[in-house]
Amino acid sequence: MQKDFLSIHDITPYEFHELLDMTQDIKENPDKYRKRLKDQVLAMIFEKPSLRTRMTFEVGMLELGGKAIYLSPNEIQLGKRETVEDVGHNLERWVDGIMIRTFAHENVVRLGKAVSVPVINALTDLSHPCQGMADFFTLREKKGGLSRAKLAYVGDGNNVCHSLMLAAAKAGTRMAVATPKGYEPSAEMVKAALEDGRETGFSLQLTTDAREAVKEADAVYTDVWASMGQEQEKEARAKIFAPYQVNPALMAAAKPDAVFMHCLPAHRGEEVAAAVFDSPRSVVFDQAENRLHIQKAIMLKLMGKKG
Ligand code: CP
Ligand code: NVA
Repeated sequence: MQKDFLSIHDITPYEFHELLDMTQDIKENPDKYRKRLKDQVLAMIFEKPSLRTRMTFEVGMLELGGKAIYLSPNEIQLGKRETVEDVGHNLERWVDGIMIRTFAHENVVRLGKAVSVPVINALTDLSHPCQGMADFFTLREKKGGLSRAKLAYVGDGNNVCHSLMLAAAKAGTRMAVATPKGYEPSAEMVKAALEDGRETGFSLQLTTDAREAVKEADAVYTDVWASMGQEQEKEARAKIFAPYQVNPALMAAAKPDAVFMHCLPAHRGEEVAAAVFDSPRSVVFDQAENRLHIQKAIMLKLMGKKG
């Protein structure tokens, strides 16, 4: 693997499947890995709020024998108090890896280039690769062969949608994305996914019709309509996205055994109806649990002495 984990686009299909297999072993045999990152330290830069990402990286480091240090938005003030590069040049003298959640994806790329230690993207406005990996691990657990599954994503063509597309491309999974006009996934990310998926069996349908997208789907995925940093657009978006709510009627248009997925946090009554979110078809907390296992695999790959 490359030094950093910034995008699913950067790993090969082989590395993608290897990470999923390693995650399976870590999940089944956590004790085997208790000392693999003994005495190593991960710095965690957060410019946006988090429950899952912070907890799973911190618990993950503890369970691998290392430690994680949380840096809040007020502490570093990336680019204001110091440049991204200067922050990195300090941190690399003290820690073995850096996890970063920020707004501009460019900051993550700059940090990765500047420092000698591994950098992990823990969400930017463009992508959320750890989430995408955890979700495909969950999909594999629930549905078996990823190359036979169809994933429907309904809602905003955002960071999570982008990482899911890139994961589907590596896995050879059929994917359909339904968004309102003007909220499609970025053309650059669509192009990257199509390139990556040329030989894996991946296919991508982009539509404005949620029912069309979920047809024959094994999993129906949605995310918030207004992401972190878009709070001022919340009301306007609520109106535009209303026809894209994942509710029992929409789930009925998917396969009868289709699961419901969401990266969380979720808003019942907005992007997902409570009747779906709280139903037995919902695997959202399995997804949240799997963030822990997949990130341990990613950290071991990047920071582990024996790779
Ligand atoms: N899904 C996810 O990344 O959750 P947090 O924003 O709580 O970390
Ligand atoms: N799209 C959401 C994902 C949160 C995990 C956001 O960026 O806020």
